[in-house]
Amino acid sequence: MRWAPSAAFRGGDQRVEAPVTLKGYLLCIFAAFGGILFGYDSGYISGVLAMPFFKAQFGKATGELGIDYVIPTWQKSLIVSILSAGTFFGALIAGSVADWIGRRSTIIAGCIIFSLGVVLQVAASSVGLLIPGRLIAGFGVGFVSAIIILYMSEVAPKAVRGAIVSGYQFSITIGLMLAAVVNQGTNGMDGSGSYRIPMGLQWLWALILGTGLFLLPESPRHYVKKNRLDDAACSLSKLRGQPINSPYIKDELAEMVANYRFEREHMNAGWLDCFLGGWKPSGNLRRVMLGVALQMMQQWTGVNFIFYYGTTFFKQVGIHNEFLISMITTIVNVLSTPISFWAIEKLGRRSLLIYGAVGMLVCEFIIAIVGTVDEGSKAAGICLIVFTCFYIFFFATTWGPAAWVVIGEIFPLPIRAKGVALSTASNWLWNFVIGYITPYMVDADKGNLKSKVFFVWGATCTLCVVFAYFLVPETKGLSLEQVSCLLDETTPRTSKKWQPSEMHANGYEKDVHLASQDLEHKEAV
Ligand code: BGC
Repeated sequence: MRWAPSAAFRGGDQRVEAPVTLKGYLLCIFAAFGGILFGYDSGYISGVLAMPFFKAQFGKATGELGIDYVIPTWQKSLIVSILSAGTFFGALIAGSVADWIGRRSTIIAGCIIFSLGVVLQVAASSVGLLIPGRLIAGFGVGFVSAIIILYMSEVAPKAVRGAIVSGYQFSITIGLMLAAVVNQGTNGMDGSGSYRIPMGLQWLWALILGTGLFLLPESPRHYVKKNRLDDAACSLSKLRGQPINSPYIKDELAEMVANYRFEREHMNAGWLDCFLGGWKPSGNLRRVMLGVALQMMQQWTGVNFIFYYGTTFFKQVGIHNEFLISMITTIVNVLSTPISFWAIEKLGRRSLLIYGAVGMLVCEFIIAIVGTVDEGSKAAGICLIVFTCFYIFFFATTWGPAAWVVIGEIFPLPIRAKGVALSTASNWLWNFVIGYITPYMVDADKGNLKSKVFFVWGATCTLCVVFAYFLVPETKGLSLEQVSCLLDETTPRTSKKWQPSEMHANGYEKDVHLASQDLEHKEAV
């Protein structure tokens, strides 16, 4: 069965890619499952920390009768944040590993490391084992979260690449929701199952992802990088559901090979090379800064304030059913994300980022203003709930997926694994920084900002609009190879109108032709 991608192409020369079969799509989509690991892992711990049995097991007895248990603040923040430390370093190291053993094998390795971390966590009955468990699991999540984006961007057909990578974001949202639901379900249990079940379930996601990936082909672009062109052709043919000798496969492969050779003539593939090229739009430094800043700005939209601190915050501003409201926000997140599958290809990455940030900042300022002038009133409470849901809707349909899609597209192949790894590490770093400073802004005995904290998120979201408008190019409908030409030939503001010329307008049609001849020659031999 053939599926003709309906997403908007950009015109120009588009003949280098094959029509893709349903099986081809399913292969590309499967990897998105890794998002569940990301979402579940960041979501489950806050609920577990509040569980009575967990507190009794890991905390210290307080109160006159010694029947209240608390976990010291420093231990709590260590248990939460050690995961981000692991993911940060895991993502960075994965950037090298993926170039060495391949994208697919790196994700599988990430699942194995993660599983080891889960075993330690489930076995732990003291913080001494729990913390190393979280650190090791975080390391695995770092591997998985950085390299899945790379893998998906490299194997997906260009017309639906954005939609397929958005599937990863969709899985993150499902992971977050599942964590909330599981915590809710086991919270009342009187036994170690209350926290061991949510912890142990993490392993299931790693098992499904790791096993499934054994059956998927390696990224053809990784093989091109290793000069294993037969393997590249074989994996491309599996991914596109086309015979290995089909002209489509030859064309697409020839373009990958030519582009890689062209790029290798101009750059090396080490870590240092990620920081070369000065302020030139197509220079590596500029691209790396774009990826790193984009992931930083995604965190500065303030989204995790809702997902990590929502429950505490809603209660603090006088809303009574705070658990329910938090659960609703995770559901809105899941239900809205699929809209992005369509919007990201139809409206493009750049427009989504600009208009999404505008939508979010309007919601944030409304919450801040109403909550400040009418503090504690019923109207302010309703306004907070309604506009929080609109805010999550805007995030889920725009910045949530688009930030991941863009980092998968902007790097040239020689440094792509490292560029995506640096950008993902930035996501985790800012995730940690914002998580760490938030209590200081909102806790009653600290900044006690209450709804005014949304002035901060509104301001940072305004910076997101400026950032997207001036710095993010439109990359929809182009092959990863064409994106390099786009960066060379346009500015972000003019990028939307750019169209690839025959093959791509970089002057290396000759190289594509030569690569094609090489491939044919290889086949004949
Ligand atoms: C972000 C996470 C966030 C999640 C919410 C992701 O894209 O990177 O930090 O928790 O979206 O859906």
